[in-house]
Amino acid sequence: YVIGVDLGTSAVKTVLVDRSGKVVAEHSESYPLSQPKPGYSEQRPEDWVDKTIVSLRRLMEDNRINKGDVEGLSFSGQMHGLVLVDQNGNALRPAILWNDTRTTPQCRRIEETLQEKLLGIARNRALEGFTLPKILWVQEHEPEVLEQAALFLLPKDYVRYRLTGEYAMDYSDAAGTLLLDVAGKAWSQDILAAFDLPASLCPPLVESFDQCGTLLPAVAEQAGLLAETKVFAGGADNACGAIGAGILEEGQTMCSIGTSGVVLSYEERKSLDFEGKVHFFNHGEKDAYYIMGVTLAAGYSLTWFKDTFAPDVSFDELLSGIADIPAGSGGLLFTPYIVGERTPHPDSSIRGSFIGMDAGHSLTHFARSVLEGITFSLRESIDILRDSGKKIDKVISIGGGAKNETWLQMQADVFNAEIVKLESEQGPAMGAAMLAAYGCGWFPSLQECAQAFLRASRSYSPNPETAQQYEQLYKLYRSVYGATRELSE
Ligand code: XUL
Repeated sequence: YVIGVDLGTSAVKTVLVDRSGKVVAEHSESYPLSQPKPGYSEQRPEDWVDKTIVSLRRLMEDNRINKGDVEGLSFSGQMHGLVLVDQNGNALRPAILWNDTRTTPQCRRIEETLQEKLLGIARNRALEGFTLPKILWVQEHEPEVLEQAALFLLPKDYVRYRLTGEYAMDYSDAAGTLLLDVAGKAWSQDILAAFDLPASLCPPLVESFDQCGTLLPAVAEQAGLLAETKVFAGGADNACGAIGAGILEEGQTMCSIGTSGVVLSYEERKSLDFEGKVHFFNHGEKDAYYIMGVTLAAGYSLTWFKDTFAPDVSFDELLSGIADIPAGSGGLLFTPYIVGERTPHPDSSIRGSFIGMDAGHSLTHFARSVLEGITFSLRESIDILRDSGKKIDKVISIGGGAKNETWLQMQADVFNAEIVKLESEQGPAMGAAMLAAYGCGWFPSLQECAQAFLRASRSYSPNPETAQQYEQLYKLYRSVYGATRELSE
């Protein structure tokens, strides 16, 4: 077996996978998130370590797995979160997470100091969620903490360090710090120098499938595993999501709808320039990249809608009649900007809308239009990728958005592409397990691992008539952003 550990924002999930790619067992342990001030979002690194070890032990004990049968494990991690450690490896303060928004002034400072150099080197714009703005916040507000810091780590790298005693960070996660020369695969001395940060703050860089030691004997004992268990670096959750969906060669694209929504495409051309309109990060596959557009409130729009307007019905009940309502929801149009937007509008103040309400509209019309609005927003990311010359005629759909047949068909019609659903889908945890399987030498390549582990269950082709109708509505959808911009100013 191999184990995939997915260190998420609300919980850590461990999955035990056999040589055929079957998930034999899984276990999840949650931890708290603290918001000491508006916009702040922090977690205790110690909680991640404790719960990861508990989750591993429960995975092994509850399923009576023989220790000697687990060959290796690897990680998928929530991206961007800042962990500062002292010279003994102790975390110096709570981790500042990806969804913490206190760093707007630091983002401005980064953009002003580096100007076009930022996109040239780090390939991404300065967003509040990324790591460098968080380091600068600590530099400005808690200088004594930064002075004591021997190293910075990302969430899963801190957990891996505590499990093995070795420091490392893989390229896919390092790409989300804004300190990595993404195409050159090295820490950027230029960016470090521009903010007076010592190079010694950056951990050694490794590939996602590289081995980073084995388990410390005391940890192995607590986790119910052998100390010889091999530990592999792992990757960013989006990179692992891509690996777990088999996005491992040119032309492959996935759409993942969870709380937020992601359109992600494999890319080998490191010189492609998207002017920062989409994220450009290193993949977990060697010398590969992925381009990614993000809809901030995807599944979250639907949850918000249900909690606000239909708290007493289940999601299944809410969506049960949507197939009977024609495309276009009877003239009702929704934009999902309820917490702002990222792609194609990096705009944290824009807010959403319902347009075209009719006295005859039912709750089901509204529910369908929420799904259509989310899907239109994701189509805008697909358009940016298509504009770069990418052919997108097939999209693997994963996450909550792949659970409803009508929504899957809607994705086919709105994206004008074939939509493929996977048989048993485990998201980033499977990607982490695949990195361990490949690292252990079970397969000659990650691609061959994907061929053995992942199977398509169904595909949905666009209906030309509905696709045409959606094309018209999509034009209208795109004009709503500009027309409502002033409302949120
Ligand atoms: C990506 C991002 C999120 C986190 C969630 O840029 O901020 O997807 O990785 O864990």
